[in-house]
Amino acid sequence: MTSAIIAPSILAADFANLKNDIELIQNSEAEWVHVDVMDGVFVPNISFGFPILKAVKKNTTKFIDVHLMIVKPERYIEQFVKDGANGISVHYEGNLHIHSLLSQIRNAGAKAGLVLNPHTPVHVIKDVLHLIDTLLIMSVNPGFGGQKFIPETIARVKEAAQIIKEKGTSTIIQVDGGINAENATSLFNAGATCLVAGSAVFKSNNPLEYIAQLKACKK
Ligand code: DX5
Ligand code: ZN
Repeated sequence: MTSAIIAPSILAADFANLKNDIELIQNSEAEWVHVDVMDGVFVPNISFGFPILKAVKKNTTKFIDVHLMIVKPERYIEQFVKDGANGISVHYEGNLHIHSLLSQIRNAGAKAGLVLNPHTPVHVIKDVLHLIDTLLIMSVNPGFGGQKFIPETIARVKEAAQIIKEKGTSTIIQVDGGINAENATSLFNAGATCLVAGSAVFKSNNPLEYIAQLKACKK
C-alpha cells in the first residue's frame, strides 16, 4: 500500500509570519509543501512568485511542489527549479505543447505534473502518462483558496486510477481544492495518493494535528 502524501498549500499561510508556517510544515507529517503561483491572467488572481519560493526553500527540506497557474510556463521552468522547485505541475488547459512542456520539466531536473481543471475529460492523460510523475486533479476551479469541494471529483479520481492501472505507470494522483478531513477518506479510497490542503490546515486550531488527521484518513 502506498502511503498518503499530504501537501499543505501555503496560499492559506500567514505571509507576515511565513517562516513560522513553513517551520510548522517542516515539523509535521506532511511530505510536500504546495506552492501556488498565479499570474492574474491564467487565473483571475495573483499570488506570488520567485522570492516566496526561495523563502520556502530556505526554511524546509520537504519536497517543494509548485503548481503553476500562469500563461506560457515554459518561459520559467528552469528558474523555478533553480529557486527550489522539486516538482512542477502545469495545466493541460491553455498549454498547446504539453508533451514538450512535461519533458522540459523533467530535463530541468524536477518531477513533472499535469493538472486537469474540473471540466477537462480525464482520458486526455492517456498518451502523455509516461511523461507524468504527478496527475493533479482540481477539485475546485483554480485561482482561489477556501472554495467548496466539487463532489464529482471522486468519480474523476477513480477514472484516473483505472487508466493508470491499465497503463501500468506509477503516477501519483493528487487532488487540490476544498480538501478537508470530511472528504479525504473518499478521495483516498477512490485512488488518490496525495492531497493538497490550504484553508483546512491553516484555519484549523491545530494545523500540526490537522495534517496528521488528514494523513490518517488513508486506511
Ligand atoms: C487553488 C489552489 C489550491 C488552493 C487550495 O487554485 O490550486 O492549491 O491553495 O486551497 P484550499 O485547500 O483552501 O481549497
Ligand atoms: Zn494548487
